[in-house]
Amino acid sequence: MAGIEVIGLTKTYRRGLGGETVRALTDVSLAIPAGEAFGIIGPNGAGKTTFLGCLLGFLRPDAGRITIDGHAPDDLAVRAATGYLPERLILDRWMTGGAFLAYHHALARLPEASRRADVDAALEQVALSEARAQRVREYSRGMLQRLGLAQALLGAPRYVFLDEPASGVDPAGVVLFRRLLSDLKRRAVTVILNSHQLDQVERVCDRVAFVRAGRVEAIETISAGATVARVLRVRAAGAPIGERIAREALAAIATQAGAELRQVTAAEARFAVADDAGAARLIAALVAGGVAVAEATPEESRLERLFLDAPGATGATP
Ligand SMILES: Nc1ncnc2c1ncn2[C@@H]1O[C@H](COP(=O)(O)OP(=O)(O)O)[C@@H](O)[C@H]1O
Ligand SMILES: [Mg+2]
Repeated sequence: MAGIEVIGLTKTYRRGLGGETVRALTDVSLAIPAGEAFGIIGPNGAGKTTFLGCLLGFLRPDAGRITIDGHAPDDLAVRAATGYLPERLILDRWMTGGAFLAYHHALARLPEASRRADVDAALEQVALSEARAQRVREYSRGMLQRLGLAQALLGAPRYVFLDEPASGVDPAGVVLFRRLLSDLKRRAVTVILNSHQLDQVERVCDRVAFVRAGRVEAIETISAGATVARVLRVRAAGAPIGERIAREALAAIATQAGAELRQVTAAEARFAVADDAGAARLIAALVAGGVAVAEATPEESRLERLFLDAPGATGATP
């Protein structure tokens, strides 16, 4: 089968000398078809990095079976088709960005004749062309992360594994990262993306698995990427919104602002909006229409609720 198949994966670690056994993954089964962007989300310590380690053939499972295009994860053909951005990137700080990529290009046994051009293209791809001759120790955290991404994409892999790719990246980096991921999607590259931040995976993945304490608790299909309609719950100051304004008037204001009234209760009104800009337009229109908006909160998706309900999920340290 083309794609990744995981059946009954269990992985334990032994902590310290003769110490207790830590169960990092318990009976995980998943199928990820080739070309999919698959997100894995969960609090710190959930087992995300361990899962990638097993998929990459770096870690030996206690039980279970993993195949990638029908091969074992440590199969050389699979390795050659795989790019990987580790969670903690370790770089030789004296190297320049260009030298680092050239070194990895050679390690991956990519053709020497195209090395210079490939490295140029890789730097260009992550907007680091200017920093080519700069030493890695002078790179910011975000630049390092982008360099790691460039390294993971060398040789045009068919499988790309990214462990917390957007951590420490500035907003411009996040935008660039999203663009890179949609490029990968267009080229039918299979992407597995770990993150403890829901918003990072929601926008770029086709499906997202929620992992907690080593188990897959849910797998959600994300519909239609960036154009997902959001539901905004609005409460008015003072008297409840449903008593202050007629339903028809609320519906008219919503329509005018390009939104749609879904429901009014005494306490709150729910509107469907296209995006953040749509939400801002709606709030402005409500205020202009005499509704003293006290609170407007986006309704949580099922994934968000799962994530927020997870013990230790909020305020988690990276
Ligand atoms: N090398 C290791 N030795 C012992 N325990 C480990 C090791 N790596 C991870 N763990 C433990 O396994 C669990 C899962 O860790 P990890 O896969 O890193 O989670 P995540 O990436 O979701 O934060 C945690 O309890 C962690 O402490
Ligand atoms: Mg991790």
